[in-house]
Amino acid sequence: MRAMLLTMRLLLAVAVVAAMAGGWAEAGKPKLKTCDKGWECRGSIYCCNETITDYFQVYQFENLFSKRNAPVSHAVGFWDYQSFITAASLFEPLGFGTTGDKLTKMREVAAFLGHVGSKTSCGYGVATGGPLAWGLCYNHEMSPSQDYCEKDYLYPCIEGVEYYGRGALPVYWNYNYGLVGDGIKVDLLNHPEFLEQNATIAFQAAMWRWMTPMKKKQPSAHDVFVGNWKPTTNDTLSKRLPGFGLTMNILYGDSICGQGFIDSMNNIISHYQYYLDLMGVGRGSSGDNVDCAEQVPFNPSYKAATT
Ligand SMILES: *[C@@H]1O[C@H](CO)[C@@H](O)[C@H](O)[C@H]1NC(C)=O
Ligand SMILES: *[C@@H]1O[C@H](CO)[C@@H](O)[C@H](O)[C@H]1NC(C)=O
Ligand SMILES: *[C@@H]1O[C@H](CO)[C@@H](O)[C@H](O)[C@H]1NC(C)=O
Repeated sequence: MRAMLLTMRLLLAVAVVAAMAGGWAEAGKPKLKTCDKGWECRGSIYCCNETITDYFQVYQFENLFSKRNAPVSHAVGFWDYQSFITAASLFEPLGFGTTGDKLTKMREVAAFLGHVGSKTSCGYGVATGGPLAWGLCYNHEMSPSQDYCEKDYLYPCIEGVEYYGRGALPVYWNYNYGLVGDGIKVDLLNHPEFLEQNATIAFQAAMWRWMTPMKKKQPSAHDVFVGNWKPTTNDTLSKRLPGFGLTMNILYGDSICGQGFIDSMNNIISHYQYYLDLMGVGRGSSGDNVDCAEQVPFNPSYKAATT
């Protein structure tokens, strides 16, 4: 967890790739047709094919997160399908769940939710229904061990406000709340509690991270998953190839990747594949490069002695 946050420290504000989604014509190229699908997706080429509500419905959400409202869960009544879809409507025009053919779209939703499910699970070895049935059990860190406040000029800690982990892909630290808040245009630096009070905002924050590169000239998790990105020679030498594994590299860096088949990495993969099965896609469609066991992180949290 800690190292993941250090990686996020490196996040730079990056404009969401609106130009890619807007369908604006480059000089000399024909303008691509854009489409409107009501509230869910408007004004983008990505709205022309199926949108998420066409292939991922409320019963599927209920299947994936079947234990989230069990009495022993820690966020009973908080997470629901409507919040997920409402949040997604901000990102579908940018290609979230709307890129490529139907299989690619369904795989992306399973991949994103695989991360979310793993990070919010309270399912352990002997949990009823199996350990993978307990995604969206939490919406915030239960016993913060520190105050997650660090001196930062851009995003200074606000007096009396706490920055412990909250959300669907938990956000920690003042500077990360500030950055993600800027990204989704919600004042999370002053109001981090929004991530445990409003599931739509919690999903928006997580989708923003999925859709946004950590640093300039780096791909987003979305890009490497849907095939928008080609590895350089350096990437290939670092075993960074397109696939689910690289999404873990981008989101968590060396806290999860480059350490062999560790439990924390396997747990994220297991959630992704469990959701593929439940959505009827099947884990056989997990794609290439599912793990990041041998990948060199894009953004190491410490400078390695050699490269
Ligand atoms: C729309 O669907 C077609 C056929 O499945 C696919 O080739 C195309 O890339 C999709 N459009 C977008 C914008 O992803
Ligand atoms: C949750 O946040 C969304 C998006 O900002 C907003 O539209 C909605 O009204 C909020 N819900 C509540 C109950 O405050
Ligand atoms: C490739 O990696 C080497 C060694 O890590 C680095 O010095 C070089 O700048 C990288 N090249 C590119 C194009 O990123």
